[in-house]
Parts: sequence; structure tokens; C-alpha cells
Amino acid sequence: MRFAGKAALVTGAARGIGMATAEVLAKDGAGLALNDMNEAALAETAEALRRYGVTVTTHAGSVTDPAFIKEMVDDATAQHGKIDLLANNAGGGPPATPWAEFADSDIAHFRAIFELNFFSQAMVLHALLPGMLARGYGKVVCVSSISAVLGQESGSAYASGKMALHALVSSVSKEVARRGVNINAVILGNPPHPSRTQGRQDYLDKLSHFNRVGRLEEFGKAIAFLLSDDASYLSGAAVPIEGGLLTPRLNG
Ligand SMILES: NC(=O)c1ccc[n+]([C@@H]2O[C@H](COP(=O)([O-])OP(=O)(O)OC[C@H]3O[C@@H](n4cnc5c(N)ncnc54)[C@H](O)[C@@H]3O)[C@@H](O)[C@H]2O)c1
Repeated sequence: MRFAGKAALVTGAARGIGMATAEVLAKDGAGLALNDMNEAALAETAEALRRYGVTVTTHAGSVTDPAFIKEMVDDATAQHGKIDLLANNAGGGPPATPWAEFADSDIAHFRAIFELNFFSQAMVLHALLPGMLARGYGKVVCVSSISAVLGQESGSAYASGKMALHALVSSVSKEVARRGVNINAVILGNPPHPSRTQGRQDYLDKLSHFNRVGRLEEFGKAIAFLLSDDASYLSGAAVPIEGGLLTPRLNG
């Protein structure tokens, strides 16, 4: 029960990496403030996680909206008394916003994708950090992608937003580590995703040292480690959880 007495905010928690992270935190005793813009799926996930006997509150809305973020943080703090842990996870593609090669891209779409993957996480962190600093305790993980490091065709807005996160994490972590707050990033690669085609999955699996897709709980457990006191000497890091995709196999 390494998270007993702690409260965690997890964004994008209705499914995928956010849900898997929330489950590990709940199993080890954390109270959960769960966010997602998919209200129905969020309610289902919250109900499922209550079986661990922890307090689970839901905060439905988009983390791209500054007014919503303020409401979410105020509400979560009021309901849990404090927020100690932040899994800054929501990201990916905003609805109805096509990804395109840069030369063909609509700059409004580019901006929307960048904003979801950078500003939303920056804004949530900005809203929670003063409380963490006042209490002298906080653990933050910002979820990035191998696309940031490798670049991605038709994904320049996504990769740029995620890379900006690395700079935010490495800068802010230096400001707050001595005041009790650890901030790190994770560079995810090859988690399962319902939108991925089989052909692309096969390609990614070939690059992985394990020759397989990552399991959601493998990402959740690694993120939870970074949110725990076991990771007390990690700060400003960008930790790869990518099955080796950043150092791909060369011999097939
Ligand atoms: N799946 C991948 O291939 C992959 C790879 C590398 C990094 N990542 C990153 O991992 C994180 C989680 O991705 P996932 O694979 O679990 O995705 P997912 O699509 O399975 O889940 C994302 C969840 O976030 C929610 N969400 C999206 N935009 C939101 C917003 N504006 N406000 C609130 N909720 C929002 C969605 O409703 C959904 O429930 C993202 O930051 C993503 O960029 C994913």
C-alpha cells in the first residue's frame, strides 16, 4: 500500500494508459481524481476502480480548456483535501483534427494537436504545482512519446508538442526538486491502441526487443513507480518505456 494516504489526479483516465496507471495507484491505496472528456467511459472506469476500496471522484471535461482545468483542480482538491500525485497523461489527437504531412497541414489543426500534447499538460501542472509546493510534496509524470525523440511522418505537431514537454519537465524540475516535488517525463513506445492497423502493429513489434506490443499494465506500473517514493532521486528525467524502440534491433 505504498500510496496509502495519497491522492492522485490522472488525466485521460477513462481507458488506455491513464486507466492502467489509475488501477496500479488504486491497488496500492491512492485516492483517485479521474479526468476524461468521455464522460460515460469515465464513469464506468471510476466504478470499476472503486472495487479497490479507495475514494474515486470523476472530473469530466477537456484539459485543453483553462476554465475547466481550474474547476477540476479546485473540485478535486476540495474532495480529496489535496492532490499529491499527477499523472499528466491525456494526449494524442483531438477529435476531428486530421494529422497530415507538414507541408499539407492546416496550421489550425497543427496548433490544436500541439496544444493538446503540450499546453494541456503545462496548464494542469501549473494549476497543481502551487499546492504541492505549499505542502512540500508532489510527484508528477508527464506522458510523452517516442515520436518526440524520433520524429514522426504526418505527426510533426504531435512530436513537437511532446518534445516541448521534455523541455518543460527538465526546466521546472530544477526549480522544484529541492522543495519536495519530483517531475519526470516518460517516453512511451508501442502501447496497444485501438486505432492502430495490424500492419503498423507488426512493424512496431519487429522494432521492439521483445517482438511484441507492450501491455497496458507494464506502462501503468512504470508510471506508478515514478509517482512513488521509491523514485525519490529521479528528477527532470525522460524515462523510456518503449520495449527498446529507441534502440531498435538491426538484424531483424
Ligand atoms: N497509444 C500510443 O501509441 C501512445 C504512444 C506514445 C505515447 N502515448 C501517449 O500516452 C497518453 C495516453 O494515450 P493512450 O494510448 O492511453 O490513448 P487512448 O486514446 O487510449 O486514451 C486517451 C484518453 O484520453 C482522453 N482524452 C483525450 N483528449 C482529452 C482531453 N482533451 N481532455 C480529457 N481527456 C482527453 C480520451 O477520451 C481517452 O479516454 C497520451 O499522452 C499519448 O500521447 C500513446
